[in-house]
This record gives sequence, C-alpha cells and structure tokens, in this order.
Amino acid sequence: MTGTVRPDLAEFVRGLPKAELHLHLEGTLEPELKFRLAERNGIRLPERTVDEVRQTYRFHDLTSFLQVYYPAMEVLQQPRDFHDLAFEYLTRAHADGIRHVEMFFDPQAHTGRGVPFQSVISGYRSAIVQARRELGISAELIMCFLRDHSAEYAMATLMEALPYRDWIIGVGLDSDERGNPPRKFAAVFARARREGFLLTMHCDIDQPDSKEHIRQALEEIGVDRLDHGTNIVEDERLVELVRAKGIGLTCCPVSNSFVTAHMKSDEIVGLLDRDLLVTLNSDDPAYFGAYAADNYLALREQAGLAVDQLVRLARNSFRASWLTPARLDGYLREIDAYVAGG
Ligand code: ADE
Ligand code: ZN
Repeated sequence: MTGTVRPDLAEFVRGLPKAELHLHLEGTLEPELKFRLAERNGIRLPERTVDEVRQTYRFHDLTSFLQVYYPAMEVLQQPRDFHDLAFEYLTRAHADGIRHVEMFFDPQAHTGRGVPFQSVISGYRSAIVQARRELGISAELIMCFLRDHSAEYAMATLMEALPYRDWIIGVGLDSDERGNPPRKFAAVFARARREGFLLTMHCDIDQPDSKEHIRQALEEIGVDRLDHGTNIVEDERLVELVRAKGIGLTCCPVSNSFVTAHMKSDEIVGLLDRDLLVTLNSDDPAYFGAYAADNYLALREQAGLAVDQLVRLARNSFRASWLTPARLDGYLREIDAYVAGG
C-alpha cells in the first residue's frame, strides 16, 4: 500500500499521534482470526485458506461489499469472540500511532441471528478496558443502526442499549443507503439525542441521493459529525453548512477506491485546503487491506500531500473527535512535540 512512499515518511506517519473516527469493528475481522473463531465455535467455513477468503473480496460498490461483509460475521458468537476482534484491532491501531478511536459496531448484525446484545457489548467493552490498561490507547463505542432494516427495529435496539448507556458515546447509521434516507430514522435519532448520545451518520460516496441525504442529516437530524459526506463538494450551500456548524467529515480514501472507481482524493484534499474538518480513517481495514496510517500514505501518494497537510489531518482527527477539551488539548500538544522532534 505504501508503494513509492519514502520509508522515513512512512515511519513519520506511523509515529504521528492520530485518532480514528470511522472504523467498523466488524470490518476488522482478518481471515486468520475468522478461522480461529470458526474453530472455537465449531463452524465449517466454505473457504480452506486465508488466500481463498481474500479471493472472495471482489467489491465494485457498497452493496457487493456488504454481501461479503455480513455473512462473515457468523463466526462471532460469544463475548470472548467480540473481545478478541476488538483487542486485535486496538493492538494494530496502537502500533499505527492511533491514540484514541471512536469505533462503530452493528448490534443488529448479531442480534438478528440470535446472538444476545449483552454478548456483543460485554465483549467489546472488556477489550476496551484491557487495551486502555495494557496499551494506553483510548476507545469509545458508537452503536450503528442498519438503515436497510426498519425504524422500529432501530428503536427497539436503542431501547436495548439504554442499560449500557455509559459504554456507548454515540449512535450512527450504516449499511445500504439506497432508498434508506436519514429521515426514515428521525424519531430514533431524536430519542437518542434526548438520551444523551452524540449523533453521526453515514452519507456514503456517490449514492443515488447523496446531496439530499447529506442535507437531511445536517438540517433535519442535526448530526454532530458526518461519515464520508464528501459529496458536499457538489453543492456550495452544503459546504458552507458543514463549515458553519463545524462538522467533522470522516473520509476513508482506500475504502472509497473499493466501493467507487476512485479514492476521491481531489475532493478530500480540496475540502482540507478549504479548512474544513476533514479526517482520514480506515472504515473496514481487514477488507480493504489498509489500516489508518496506510490511508494517510495512500492519499499522500495519490495527491502528493505535503508534510504539513498530513499533520493537519492528524490534528483534525482529534479536533473532530468527541474528546473533552482538556484531553483534546493534550493530544494536540503531543502532535506539536512530535513534529518538533521532541
Ligand atoms: N458497514 C460497514 N462499512 C460500511 C460503509 N462503508 N458504509 C455503509 N455501511 C457499512
Ligand atoms: Zn463506514
């Protein structure tokens, strides 16, 4: 993935303190762990080798990706499976210079096949606590609703999550966007807001109604952040709205190159250069073959980013996070010290 990037630059980017704000825990399932969990749970997989699993990763759009993504989750059954998934990701993220991560999880992808909500969240939570203690990485959970299911099912999931309110920082919306606008979930997000959750939402790349969905997310739902959302470049009013509200955009360049024909580097860098709160993230790194630092390096290679732009992206990753002002300040000072060589 790092191709022609100089080794010293790759090392600089990996060491640069960063936050990750767009990461699906279920999208970190590497084939090796998939085999281990299948064995643990007595599941026979159709593929025999890691290579055979990777050969099934042929995506040309979001729908074809999701068709591979959901069935793979059948190996996740017990709390310790969810723990191992999250802990392996947090270990990799830590090695990649990630200091803080706000991670999506999809409870309905598990409760819908009979796995209790409690198994999912207790496994993820114990990994977060262990990673904080052993690695010093900080992590929060964002619970996503599956937008291709009903609003009633989303509301029931929100109710199921309330006893775990303190373990979940915010709610999001993911899965297949076609025909599933933000407005469909207005009541769910309004209730989540009243319960004290922060709000974010996928506005995926080049969807049939991308601009209208972004408008609804901003004006009708009142999100605190937008996942992807780069189609705002097609409408100056949306750009100004995002700027005026100080909304962070969680962009995922390598993921973009799998679900569309492009990384969308011109759009991402154009928005960064206009001083919008653009961040870089990995989305589903096990499937797209690129963790957080790889995304910085891939965009750098494609768009010829300068070092100060890479540093600005790292600063933005904390500025767009849901950290307290004091912790944000601490991480920004860490970046300053790192860049100064201290
Ligand atoms: N679920 C996992 N990754 C996703 C993405 N990029 N968009 C929508 N839903 C997802
Ligand atoms: Zn995503």
